[in-house]
Amino acid sequence: MISYKELGLVNSRDLFAKAMQGGYAIPAYNFNNMEQLQAIIAACVETKSPVILQVSSGARKYANQTLLRFMAQGAVEYAKELGYPIPIVLHLDHGDSFELCKNCIEFGFSSVMIDGSHLPYEENIALTRRVVDYAHQFDVTVEGELGVLAGVEDDVKAEHHTYTQPEEVEDFVKRTGVDSLAISIGTSHGAFKFKPGQKPEIRLDILKEIEKRIPGFPIVLHGSSSVPQDIVEEINRYGGKMKDSIGIPEEQLRKAAGSAVCKINIDSDGRLAMTAAIRKVFVEKPDEFDPRKYLGPARDKLKELYKHKNINVLGSDNKA
Ligand code: G3H
Ligand code: 13P
Ligand code: ZN
Repeated sequence: MISYKELGLVNSRDLFAKAMQGGYAIPAYNFNNMEQLQAIIAACVETKSPVILQVSSGARKYANQTLLRFMAQGAVEYAKELGYPIPIVLHLDHGDSFELCKNCIEFGFSSVMIDGSHLPYEENIALTRRVVDYAHQFDVTVEGELGVLAGVEDDVKAEHHTYTQPEEVEDFVKRTGVDSLAISIGTSHGAFKFKPGQKPEIRLDILKEIEKRIPGFPIVLHGSSSVPQDIVEEINRYGGKMKDSIGIPEEQLRKAAGSAVCKINIDSDGRLAMTAAIRKVFVEKPDEFDPRKYLGPARDKLKELYKHKNINVLGSDNKA
């Protein structure tokens, strides 16, 4: 058992309390390789922002859990070396079983998500409670989820049953003991969140209703990439084929960050930025074959993206 405290990481409790008070959200950026991690840490140090490093189970398989843990520990030292020791959380994204959450906690994660959102209500409560009881023994914070995020094939506007039901949140939070709650209000994962012709709009009215039922409780928004159109155009200009990719408008996320939303998850925008930069090098310098010559520009573009998010979307700059 490795405690996250020995690695210099923190859990999310104090960060969320401050974010709630200050009307901003903590960025939760996914990583599975070195360039992403370098970009996240450099961006967050330069903007003096706390950060949640997210690892999905797919990322864990891709990069190896031991390496990821040492990378997170390295990130703590890297931030210090860059001159500003920001608070860093290592968080399991979309944990789907008690065993996975337990394993991550034993490997030095300071926070886990148990995603029982696809389960019947009572089963979601039982699974989440079990993870909370285990995690809290080690001062690890837990995120639960109520409501299912619509997939791209679903018509978000019509699928009301996928939204979080405000009347359930108080009971869920009380009975599970979670530290934060992910909700479904019209965001979705990936780069195709709305269909062309659909109004890209999240249900801030449901968020408000949820806030009324559990005042001061930290809310999490998944699926919060904005799919910047200039980046999509760049991908397509350099040979990509991304059609009709639409994300969540940044102003809506800024509004949400000013409310009880304390954590905003962004992964796809980073994937798009990296892809655009790499495609550009491949087209403009077809003789280039040193990975540093295309991963370097990808890292630079990622860093700019994360700085922009921290300052203009999450409002987390100067909060570390
Ligand atoms: O919510 C999902 C995250 O974007 C992680 O995606 O499972 O492909 O690593 P992944
Ligand atoms: P995006 O696909 O919108 O970036 O969402 C990421 C996410 O929710 C990770 O849990
Ligand atoms: Zn997610």
